Amino acid sequence: MPGTALIGAQWGDEGKGKLTDLFAEQMDMVVRATGGDNAGHTIVVGDETYKLRLLPSGILYPHVVPVIGNGVALNPGVLLAELQGLTDRGINVSRLRISANAHLVMPYHRELDKVTERFLGRNKLGTTKRGIGPAYADKARRIGVRLQDLFDEKIFRQKVEIALKDKNQILTKLYNRMPLDIDAIMEEYFSYASSIEKYMADTSLLTNDALKAQQKVLFEGAQGTLLDIDHGTYPYVTSSNPTAGGMCVGAGVGPRALNRIVGIAKAYTTRVGGGPFPTELFGEEGAHLRKIGREFGTVTGRDRRCGWLDLPILRFAVRINSFNSFALTKLDILSEFDSLKVCVGYEYNGKRYDEMPFHQSVLHHVSPLYEILPGWQTDITQCTEYDQLPKEAMDYVAFVEEHAGVPVDIVSVGPERAQTLLRKTA
Ligand code: IMP
Repeated sequence: MPGTALIGAQWGDEGKGKLTDLFAEQMDMVVRATGGDNAGHTIVVGDETYKLRLLPSGILYPHVVPVIGNGVALNPGVLLAELQGLTDRGINVSRLRISANAHLVMPYHRELDKVTERFLGRNKLGTTKRGIGPAYADKARRIGVRLQDLFDEKIFRQKVEIALKDKNQILTKLYNRMPLDIDAIMEEYFSYASSIEKYMADTSLLTNDALKAQQKVLFEGAQGTLLDIDHGTYPYVTSSNPTAGGMCVGAGVGPRALNRIVGIAKAYTTRVGGGPFPTELFGEEGAHLRKIGREFGTVTGRDRRCGWLDLPILRFAVRINSFNSFALTKLDILSEFDSLKVCVGYEYNGKRYDEMPFHQSVLHHVSPLYEILPGWQTDITQCTEYDQLPKEAMDYVAFVEEHAGVPVDIVSVGPERAQTLLRKTA
């Protein structure tokens, strides 16, 4: 079955937007299956830059059916604003389909995300404050509200009443905040209903039918492997499974639907928010990489933490996701260095770790073991074929392949579509 998945191999922000867009052009359907408006994709098409948070990038192509699956945490206000923004720019959004089972992000989820982060003080997770964690928590507690509930006024009110009861107690008694008013929430959410109804569908059925008909379906990842709630650097993770397995659950397809799984990895490493990051660069070095890599968050505008490439992390991501190959992004950012450090393992308390240590306390304290590779110090942004890269850049890519265990079949050397080098296997 012709299903392709693009999955972040690090802590998100690997440049999935550009790759997704590149693949989307050749697809019949593009599905988003996890996360919510905590994600941010920047897509550059010619002179136009689009910043998408909830919508699958396929929305930009008239021949693609864009789908939001059941696994997405859907903030309807954000969705409608994003749709309006695209409509204003002449994009036809009418093909969008949204799972009736997608859980809604409610005002109390956002409120709780904000106050709990504040309450955690220096232990805060650094969330995007979009209410994603509290929305998935309600889903797991079975007091979540789904898109389909919006279309039964009585049920919707009942469900929100149940969910709001303990939230208001927590907000007022624990956090000293004002309670939220159910009538205001009803009014706001019912005002969205008529605009959203036409998009609601059984997206699992649609997607499976498309696959059966041999249509090309792209499963578009959000966040990254190390932010996965099960496999990431818990608790400094998001609240969904942005890995290949989560993609199946969040789209309503079986594992055999993904017959090509591509890991997207940046040629160095970044993360936003708290949590361990063994190859992080601090001070001047970190600030410099941030500046040349333009590493500022799409959603929150926060500075991203930056560091050298970490290969045990990529190996781990291959294991968790069954990647067939990698797309290595932002290789051009490394062009100015005369030598490049690449982490091949870690050391802690006299012990060497070749794989990511499973114990969080160890990961927090490891020192990276680096190999130093020669830089190329040549502008590579104009390369149009892989073979045009300087030898040192090709050696860097080969080093990644050797340590990660799968081929790198796409290399990105700039933000434009044309700045993408496809190798023979891609
Ligand atoms: P949440 O997903 O807003 O709950 O945030 C949890 C953690 O995931 C925080 O460290 C966020 O910075 C991080 N995170 C969530 N979405 C993204 C993303 O799209 N890119 C990078 N980091 C993200």
